[in-house]
Amino acid sequence: NKPKVLVTRGDIPKSAVSILEEKCEVELMPDHSPISRIDLLNKISGKDALFCLLTDKIDHEVLDKAGPQLKIIGTMSVGYDHLDMNEIKKRKISVGYTPNVLTAATAELTVALTLATTRRLFEAHDEITNGGWAKCAWGPLWMCGGGLVGAKVGIVGLGSIGLAVAKRLLPFDIAKIMYCGRQEKPEAAQVSGEYVTFDHLIKESDVVIITCPLNDATRNMFGPAQFASMKTNAVLINTSRGGVVDQSALVHALKTGQITAAGLDVMTPEPLPVDHELTQLKNCVLIPHIGSATLQTRTTMATMTAQNIVNALEGKPMPAQLC
Ligand code: GLV
Ligand code: GLV
Repeated sequence: NKPKVLVTRGDIPKSAVSILEEKCEVELMPDHSPISRIDLLNKISGKDALFCLLTDKIDHEVLDKAGPQLKIIGTMSVGYDHLDMNEIKKRKISVGYTPNVLTAATAELTVALTLATTRRLFEAHDEITNGGWAKCAWGPLWMCGGGLVGAKVGIVGLGSIGLAVAKRLLPFDIAKIMYCGRQEKPEAAQVSGEYVTFDHLIKESDVVIITCPLNDATRNMFGPAQFASMKTNAVLINTSRGGVVDQSALVHALKTGQITAAGLDVMTPEPLPVDHELTQLKNCVLIPHIGSATLQTRTTMATMTAQNIVNALEGKPMPAQLC
């Protein structure tokens, strides 16, 4: 009798499905969109393991439906705020995730978003199609952005992604890297990173980049008071989780010029409604949670998730175990 695994999404790479199929009976959801809540609650019962994505909320209700048979969860993500870790630990379920393998891709995307925001790339593109370029031809101050030369960059959460972002930004002749977080990081020396308080960081930075996980300590870390204390030329970049930012406070800050611009790969809710206020703001660059989206990275994340599950089912250590 092979262990039973539920895979919540149909379009995960075949190489990952093959790893699971060798050892397990796999129920692969057919859709290329998130599993419905009803399906999740129905399909989870009788399963030994779950292969899930960050779009699947795994809470006590799902875990209750699963019952004691469920021993392993593999999430195809580095973030795990979609998992109720307290409930999971109570039930002694092992969790695998995908750190490190997406660090380079996510850092690369963060740099791309930082450049796109400080140099107004999306807005500039729109000027071609909306006739703005035709009108001004070339303007001395038209489409000027802050750029990165001489910028003080503040990184909120210098984990592996934050550090990889810092390394990639240094060649742009930035003035310096500051970072904040729960503790000082020895590896910050690699980027001459200065450990500062969160309050100091937001007051002094021209570019603020959020790469910390979402948890009770970081939820709504950026609210009205924080935006009020930021530089008016500041740009906020977020590639971690939307919940770190109080989004209505951000909208207000962007509308009133408390800060200059924002570049967001993550927001609340996701997907963002097409007519959301954020989509109306010229000084907000939006991309749809694609930090780790290179084909190679996503394939590696999927196979790693499958391997985490298979190893745990066989009583071996996972390649990357969270608990
Ligand atoms: C992406 O956001 C991830 O957590 O992997
Ligand atoms: C930042 O990562 C913080 O937790 O302060």
